[in-house]
Amino acid sequence: MTRTPLGSPVLLLVAGLLAVIALAQEPPKPAAKERLVIGFSQCTVKEPWRVEFNRRLKEHAEKAYPDVQLDMLDADDKTEKQVGDVKTFIRRGVNAILISPKEAAGLTGVVKEASEAGIPVVVLDRDVNYKDYACFVGGDNKLIGRAAGKVAVDMLGGPGKAQGVIYEICGGLASTPGQERRDGFHEVVAKEKGVRIIGGLDCDWKKDKAYSVMQDALKANPQIDLVYAHNDPMAHGAYLAAKAAGREGEIKFIGIDALPDEGVRWVKSGELTATLLYPTPGAAGLDLAMKILHGEKVEKRVTLPTRVFTKENVDKGGEEVRITTETQRHREE
Ligand code: FRU
Repeated sequence: MTRTPLGSPVLLLVAGLLAVIALAQEPPKPAAKERLVIGFSQCTVKEPWRVEFNRRLKEHAEKAYPDVQLDMLDADDKTEKQVGDVKTFIRRGVNAILISPKEAAGLTGVVKEASEAGIPVVVLDRDVNYKDYACFVGGDNKLIGRAAGKVAVDMLGGPGKAQGVIYEICGGLASTPGQERRDGFHEVVAKEKGVRIIGGLDCDWKKDKAYSVMQDALKANPQIDLVYAHNDPMAHGAYLAAKAAGREGEIKFIGIDALPDEGVRWVKSGELTATLLYPTPGAAGLDLAMKILHGEKVEKRVTLPTRVFTKENVDKGGEEVRITTETQRHREE
């Protein structure tokens, strides 16, 4: 038998086998850490509140989660585009989806589709009709509507004594904030026999639509004592129309959002009589998505607080609207 320098062929085979086993047992090289990808579908950036929402979310993401990739898509105010955007996220297999829907019915299907595909979906500010998503973050719009109703009643003479005509300008009535801001307000004001609510047209949250609707309202109604608009841009649009008609002095204007550079500034300047805070929900929504991705349990519904700003309290940062007492009070009455 021929001998190799290492010895017998059997020994050579054993040595080879041992080498293979040793290689197989070598600890695996650490795989590159996988980057989490979160898709955010924003319904529009045509309104200042949405621009601020995106700015705060982006800033929070960069500070708190520098390793996370946050992909933002703007649906350009169109339901069909937003459905497509969420489908894109599903196809790409993102780790989680944040969505602030244009309206409830049209976005329900795709939120369901993403949830059923196993992607945690965090719904922000406007709700959908399917509820098996991961969680919801937003303001309590019914409460905000009721609080606005209380402010209106106080401005028109106080509970039981209030008198006057209120012109209501609605946001998108296919969205839950539009519906709830209307319902909460009506619930409170309907108790006042001396107050009449007129208007109620859907101005899709837009300042220019509110301006032209208010022009018509002023022509058709010799008496308007107060305008309740579902957001500050529409309240300010109505104010500008009244000013152009020389009637701004006889009307009070209530809006919602209270952005520092919009509603709060307009209350300070006396253009709006009151505004209610509607906090942007992006940062809280991202925190929840991250908790979910790390296997933590989260609350199904996170409600952000509101505050009311009037000329009297605006320099002190407004006044808190307490959720339980306020809700309770109106239930008891
Ligand atoms: C912006 C906005 C806000 C409003 C919110 C309601 O798109 O219209 O002004 O508070 O959406 O969802």
